[in-house]
Amino acid sequence: MCGIVGYTGSLAAAPFLIEGLRKLEYRGYDSAGVAINGEGGLQVVRRKGKVAALAQSVKSMDLNGTCGIGHTRWATHGKPSEVNAHPHTSCDGKIAVVHNGIIENFAELREKLEDAGHTFASATDTEVIAHLVEEAYMGDLLSAVRTATERIHGAYGLAVTCENEPGVIIVTRKDSPIVVGQGETGAYVASDMIAVLEYTRDIVVMADGQFAKLTPAGVEFFDMYGKPVQPEITHIDWDVDTAEKGGYPDFMLKEIHEQPRVIRDTLAGRMVGGHLSIDELDMTTEELNLIERVTIIACGTSYHAGLVAQKLIEHWARIPTTVSVASEFRYDDPIITPTTLVVAVSQSGETADTLAAIRDARVKGAKVFGITNVIGSPVARESDGVIYTKANKEIAVASTKSFLGQVVSLTLLAMLLAQAKGRMRSNEIRALFRQLAETAQQVEEILSDTTAIDEAAVACKDAASALFIGRGMGAATSYEGALKLKEISYLHAEAYAAGEMKHGPIALISDGFPVIAIATKGPVYDKVVSNLQEARARGAKIVVVATEGDEDIKAHADHVIYIPKVNDYFIPITASVPLQLFARAIALLRGCDVDQPRNLAKSVTVE
Ligand code: AGP
Repeated sequence: MCGIVGYTGSLAAAPFLIEGLRKLEYRGYDSAGVAINGEGGLQVVRRKGKVAALAQSVKSMDLNGTCGIGHTRWATHGKPSEVNAHPHTSCDGKIAVVHNGIIENFAELREKLEDAGHTFASATDTEVIAHLVEEAYMGDLLSAVRTATERIHGAYGLAVTCENEPGVIIVTRKDSPIVVGQGETGAYVASDMIAVLEYTRDIVVMADGQFAKLTPAGVEFFDMYGKPVQPEITHIDWDVDTAEKGGYPDFMLKEIHEQPRVIRDTLAGRMVGGHLSIDELDMTTEELNLIERVTIIACGTSYHAGLVAQKLIEHWARIPTTVSVASEFRYDDPIITPTTLVVAVSQSGETADTLAAIRDARVKGAKVFGITNVIGSPVARESDGVIYTKANKEIAVASTKSFLGQVVSLTLLAMLLAQAKGRMRSNEIRALFRQLAETAQQVEEILSDTTAIDEAAVACKDAASALFIGRGMGAATSYEGALKLKEISYLHAEAYAAGEMKHGPIALISDGFPVIAIATKGPVYDKVVSNLQEARARGAKIVVVATEGDEDIKAHADHVIYIPKVNDYFIPITASVPLQLFARAIALLRGCDVDQPRNLAKSVTVE
């Protein structure tokens, strides 16, 4: 939930640390800090607020050491403030620590450390680590960090540096991501490879319990017993511009515009000789055919992608499918058997609840497929098979292109299951695949003219609340539309299957109340139109997403946003795009930061 960076080498550390933190700001942005381990000893600078505030302070200081660590925070223990910002230091000020995760037994450790004479400066869980390392330090930082981590329970990605060992950074992790890379002018560590790709494309995604010692001469890796290990190096060929806005005013708009590319990349190479294949799943047709039940686990937007998949899997493959919010799944008593396929969907691949649900499912004997956007992420590592969505790094906190990547990947999975079960003939699969591929061009068309979307946004911007409705595939789409609107514009929004309106939500409607409906031509079109009439009769302001050429719909709506005609099962792919743009337009009109909405962070690594 926080971002950490570190550098040691021949160049000044501060510029890399600030730039790296800026790239990791999506992980948290309530305070930031750096510790430089230079000739003058350890210098720590921390500021409340975004990385820009820290950068401003650092600019006016003489921080010229060539080794340092940095942190950008999303508060868990202790309110956002300078004193709670990382790095945290030991009593003697010689050891500095940055941490991403949660130390569950921090209260007990803090009491013991205070009894032993340690003085605490902050309200954070992290500070105990600095004092534990101080207690264990006998002249070898690696060994002291290993000893300290034996006493902590919880999740952590850690980088530690000590004044007595200039140029040395020790890093380790458990359930929080850490990557390490060696460039021409030094060694780098970060929570996310996006911070280091400019310097090296050969990345080590550290494993749980592994330690690394970074010095200007290179990086050495050790297991939890201190034995040297040879890590696996992953070569990354992403475009480094992913971390830049590329001429767009914000990351959200840039990422919305990347969606046609995401669809094409996700489909590339999947149709081989008229046969759909997803090799990464590593399951034969016979094994897939044995699946009797599918359970999808996810949170937030990823959960909405799961709702879409449920309809596709049940319709095409006729396999009973449930979708569970991961935070509920882990405390429920779900029916999981060895013939259940569990599909875990997570953009970041590090959502704590989704990971816990994966572990529970595996204990119950299920095979787990992960669908994630992050190479080497915990979801990827802990699943039996993984499909990487081809969204590339998503920086805006609100998911857009990763949602489309997930929906397209899950659509392929549904088709694969139908193929394995013999429920779809190969000519049907080929035709469906062709239509799926055409959605890339259709999304391009939607992006080429946003006039109607912008007009609808102006009409709805001052509302206190809004309802999103749809039926069938439109219902799943409207849930995502409502989430987008509330998370970036702070305008309260709810989504309902349109048929549910009469069972309660219609009471909300009075003059001018916005109702945003997915009313595309398809099996439930007439039903949705009836629901629109009911809402309109009570004064609702109606915005509809409708099928190009549908002139009749204008009689039932105040604003019509047309999208190209698509197979009804692909409506979530195309219709969610205008809803993303609608949410963004309203957020901007209301003066909100669309990339970094308040109280949120990109990945939720705490329960
Ligand atoms: C959606 O815009 C949010 N970023 C959030 O709901 C997100 O989808 C959720 O936290 C799940 O994250 P994950 O996909 O990384 O597991």
